[in-house]
Amino acid sequence: MEEICLHGKKFKLKFTEKAIQEKIQAIAAALNKDYKDKQPVFISVLNGAFLFTADLLRLFKHDCEIHFIKLASYAGTQSTGKAKEIIGLNVRLTGKHVVVLEDIVDTGKTLSDFLSSLKTQNPNSIEIASLLTKPKARTTENKHLAIKYLGFEIENDFVVGYGLDYDGLGRNYPMLYVEEGKGSVA
Ligand code: XMP
Ligand code: MG
Repeated sequence: MEEICLHGKKFKLKFTEKAIQEKIQAIAAALNKDYKDKQPVFISVLNGAFLFTADLLRLFKHDCEIHFIKLASYAGTQSTGKAKEIIGLNVRLTGKHVVVLEDIVDTGKTLSDFLSSLKTQNPNSIEIASLLTKPKARTTENKHLAIKYLGFEIENDFVVGYGLDYDGLGRNYPMLYVEEGKGSVA
């Protein structure tokens, strides 16, 4: 579908299912190489990262743990800038190689708060894999956040689909859409 309408708001196609899956294959290839003998602990940030996590980790060929955490920081299309932990993490990370799986890094606030809490457990390493990033939305104090495994870099526009929602709708689409009037198909 070239265009979708959620809560009366129009969104147009930004990344096709094929483009998304190609990026995921590239990330999976890098993870397969880098974490071959490390038995990584993947931490998926719900809800947005559910499809990314499922597609990516089906392509991971070595032993690994998969855990889920739920954080909230968004209301409508504007970041509230406050990350709130909803479902905690029941795993000890001391000495482990952790990879955080995110749908999108926007201001970076959610991720930076979460990384701070992970670091208190002294994992051996922490890296980030994110399907999307909006570098122009990053706040100054979060400019240093390095996303080692990245799908797409996008403008500061609101996107939905492939796990991401607009007030609850749109997560089910296998492709990504952008607010009408912004960006174009890649
Ligand atoms: P921050 O600003 O803390 O936000 O980096 C990260 C979280 O906000 C959500 N987010 C979006 N959700 N379309 C969405 O559906 C977007 O364009 C968007 N930008 C940020 C998302 O949950 C992310 O983890
Ligand atoms: Mg998210």
